Amino acid sequence: MQPIDLLLSRKSHNKLKSPGPTSEQLDVMFQAALRAPDHAMLRPWRYRIFEKQALEDLGDKFVRATQLSGQELSPEKIEKIRSKPLRAPMLIVASVVLQEHPKVPHIEQILSAGASVQNLLMAAHFQGVGAMWRTGDIAFNDHLMKLLDFEEDEIIAGFVYLGTEEGDKRKVKPFSISDFVTRFE
Ligand SMILES: Cc1cc2nc3c(=O)[nH]c(=O)nc-3n(C[C@H](O)[C@H](O)[C@H](O)COP(=O)(O)O)c2cc1C
Repeated sequence: MQPIDLLLSRKSHNKLKSPGPTSEQLDVMFQAALRAPDHAMLRPWRYRIFEKQALEDLGDKFVRATQLSGQELSPEKIEKIRSKPLRAPMLIVASVVLQEHPKVPHIEQILSAGASVQNLLMAAHFQGVGAMWRTGDIAFNDHLMKLLDFEEDEIIAGFVYLGTEEGDKRKVKPFSISDFVTRFE
């Protein structure tokens, strides 16, 4: 397959089973992620990998963080939150350490993190690894960031679920390029 065909065929997979990516595949994915455009070479991106028991522990942290934010949770809701990280054999928490820089506002650092995550997703797809980028309320929960030992100015860019595609029936929503692109001459 030509590189452009690979680029055009990426899609998210909400059903992911074992196995997760191999160490070699992960290495390629991070090489790609760390080649994202990055104004002033701040390298603001951070990645934390969770698998096996660490996924269960992360689910406990999701519950704890939600409770600390003041929400009353039924036993069913607790179980639902706890099981979220278990949707795939591997979950990567992608984050950005925001830095003060005279020429690089935070928005540029966040955009760079988005580009880094997209590079990671593409490198997963190129190697046949299924992936999905998710967030949800928990991604913006300050208590979770403390429980994950985040740095002072570190925020979550997303949760990247990784594994083997299990048949995602969702179709890509059709689009027309002209709805999004204007050309000036
Ligand atoms: C920052 C960000 C956060 C997202 N969070 C979620 C999410 O929490 N739940 C979800 O179903 N999709 C989420 N998505 C969208 C999916 O990753 C995916 O792009 C979408 O389901 C469309 O599928 P596609 O990538 O195959 O086009 C998010 C995307 C981005 C860029």
